[in-house]
Amino acid sequence: MKRIEIRKPDDFHIHLRQGELLKMTVPHCSAYFSRAVVMPNTIPPIDSASTLEEYRRQIVEIDPGFNPLMTFKLLKNMKESDVRALKKAGAIAGKLYPAGATTNSTDGITDWRDIAGLLKVMEEEQLVLSIHGEDPSVYSLDREKAYIPEILEICRKFPGLKVVFEHLSSAEGIQAVAEGPDNLAGTITVHHLLLTLDDVIGGALNPHNFCKPVLKGPEDRKAIQKVVLEGNRKFFFGSDSAPHSAAKKQEGAAGSYSAPVSLALLAEFFDGCGKLPMLEDFVSRFGAEFYGMPLNEERIELAEESWIVPEAYGEVIPFFASKVIRWIVKN
Ligand code: DOR
Ligand code: ZN
Repeated sequence: MKRIEIRKPDDFHIHLRQGELLKMTVPHCSAYFSRAVVMPNTIPPIDSASTLEEYRRQIVEIDPGFNPLMTFKLLKNMKESDVRALKKAGAIAGKLYPAGATTNSTDGITDWRDIAGLLKVMEEEQLVLSIHGEDPSVYSLDREKAYIPEILEICRKFPGLKVVFEHLSSAEGIQAVAEGPDNLAGTITVHHLLLTLDDVIGGALNPHNFCKPVLKGPEDRKAIQKVVLEGNRKFFFGSDSAPHSAAKKQEGAAGSYSAPVSLALLAEFFDGCGKLPMLEDFVSRFGAEFYGMPLNEERIELAEESWIVPEAYGEVIPFFASKVIRWIVKN
């Protein structure tokens, strides 16, 4: 039986949600990840030092050993002093949601030029800019491609600002990051790495694989897999694990709850490609290096051992529900 021991990973993009759900999402995340970049699209949003501090308190109360990396949502009416206060309160990144691009983003930004002053302060304060890179005004499969020029212009205008193009889904997005400036990196989810749009609409409609950005075609998936398997350090893991109740998924909510399965699936993927030793850089090194953080010292063990993903966790149906995964996380 194959085994591997690696530094405990980080998840550079997760939705932990609020209230009762936190009691499930935090332990599922902290079991596999030392740190996670916690998305701010809660209701109400994380948009001030006090909301950020309170949200962190709720997370850490559930698992004091977990290290949530807190973010805030950029809003049009935010003041530069709010950004500085958020940094003081411990924020590591601010998230730019184009208005209407995804879950809870109607209060997002229509044109990033409207918040150029905030971006300047983020650059000064060494806050990372995390971007949901989609233009919601164009055809759904072209939304990521359409937002690339905006991201490149932000990188040019703020050369000292680290920018993360989140959950890359298209060959064009991958190319933009790979060939883009040094202050640009990208996160990759396990669902965009493994699946295509056919896993949503190729047979019976599967709402559990429906997410934003929408899964794309085989050539897009190939481009994503290529940069990951090359060990390109501009690309690192961010799960975008985003739980919704089964009822909400039936109504069309976007997001896959991958936290309980993502690390095992990644081990299966790297091993299947004969590249298991490269797993650690993707999940435990490249993201920390880009964000300028020390690597985790804790270690975690994975083994080639099959298990069946539960059909549900409470009201949430997880990614890969009821399917067999051939790798398991041991401790
Ligand atoms: O599928 C998604 N779900 N994509 C996002 O950008 C947001 C997330 C959520 O919060 O549900
Ligand atoms: Zn997300």
